[in-house]
Parts: sequence; structure tokens; C-alpha cells
Amino acid sequence: MTQDELKRATARAAIDYIAPKLEADGIVGVGTGSTANFFIDMLAEIKGRFDGTVASSEASAERLKSHGIPVYDLNAVDGIQVYVDGADEANAALELIKGGGAALTREKIVAACSDEFVCIADESKWVPVLGTFPLPVEVIPMARSLVAREIVKLGGDPIYRQGVTTDNGNVILDVHNLHITQPRALEEAINNITGVVTNGLFAHRPADLLLLGTAAGVKTFT
Ligand code: A5P
Repeated sequence: MTQDELKRATARAAIDYIAPKLEADGIVGVGTGSTANFFIDMLAEIKGRFDGTVASSEASAERLKSHGIPVYDLNAVDGIQVYVDGADEANAALELIKGGGAALTREKIVAACSDEFVCIADESKWVPVLGTFPLPVEVIPMARSLVAREIVKLGGDPIYRQGVTTDNGNVILDVHNLHITQPRALEEAINNITGVVTNGLFAHRPADLLLLGTAAGVKTFT
């Protein structure tokens, strides 16, 4: 199977998982990226069976609207029933690296508001230890050099993601050469650097369920 076929299979599994439990007034949190895009296209098949969505990026909001799916401002809803999103890496504790698409801050906000977080990923994202994928860090532009120096002290090699501005008007540093054996501690340490908006480690708020697309079928991890 191709990687796209695996992504499509895990998106379908997410639809099958959430469809029976969606409430008529329920809000679905929707992530960002190629796997989330497959999910958005399938979510259109069941629109009308829930109230609407909150999107983790402008790109996903536009895609949802193109299907006629309502998109709400997060401040206008009481909560999010379930959040479905991809990941760049996932480990056995369902801790994640996210932000390859530069949407990490809004993704973390949506995850924080959600009763349940369902991660959808193909098997290439499954790792024993997080860190092979460079860890994205969203940074206030004027603090870029300061934050980079502090990250070097933590043992990482930050690379400025040239030409990328986040939906929040900030920049991204991708931190290479990390072997993240203590994800929660590193998430906290990086977030404590002045000028950091947030980083792409989802350890304090891991996924609740991982639907992993493999050649042998979609595997479920909790
Ligand atoms: C977006 O910022 C990311 O967190 C994505 O969820 C992640 O990069 C996965 O993207 P793909 O589904 O395109 O692999």
C-alpha cells in the first residue's frame, strides 16, 4: 500500500470510530496536514450529524468550508467532543511530535479543549523514541536568535524554517538531533524559554487513541 492509502485508511477508521458517538450539538476539532485532509473530505459525508467544527489552521478551515461544514471560532463553543489530527511521530505512550505543517500552537489549543484526542497516522510515524523528526518550535520573531541559543544549551540543533510564517504571525525553529527520552520534561523546558509560543511535543496532552495505518490494517492503540 502507498503512504496515501495508509493515510486514507486511518482517516476512514477515525470516521467509523467517531460517527456513532457524535452528538447533534457536538463540535469536532479538526487538525492540519495531509492525513487530516483525508479526514476532512470524509467528514463531509456525515455533516449534519454534528453541529460543526473548530479548525487548527486557516487551511483546514478553508477545506472544511469548501465542503459546507460549519467552522466555529473556538471562543464561540462550549467545548470540543473529539479532536482528530495527524502527527509527525508517535510513541507507545501516544506522546507525539506535531507541527510539520507549522500549525502546532493551534493544534495544542484545540487538543487542550477536547474531551478526546484521536490521532491518525500511517506506520512511518511510529517510533520507539521521539526525536528523529525535527521538533518544531513556534517562536516570536524578535526572539528567534535568543531561543535558538537556549535550545542549543538543551542539546538540540535549531534550524530556522525559512519562508514560513505561522497563522499566528510567528516563525518556526526545527530542532534536530534530539533523542527524547523524557518528553514531558523537554516539553516544559522548551516552553519555559522566553520567546517560545509553544513546541510540538504533545506529552502533557498525548493522544487518547491512535489509529495507525499499517500494511496489515489499521491498528488501534490506547
Ligand atoms: C501540522 O502542523 C502537523 O502537526 C501535522 O499533523 C503533521 O505534520 C502530520 O502531517 P501529515 O498528515 O501531512 O503527515
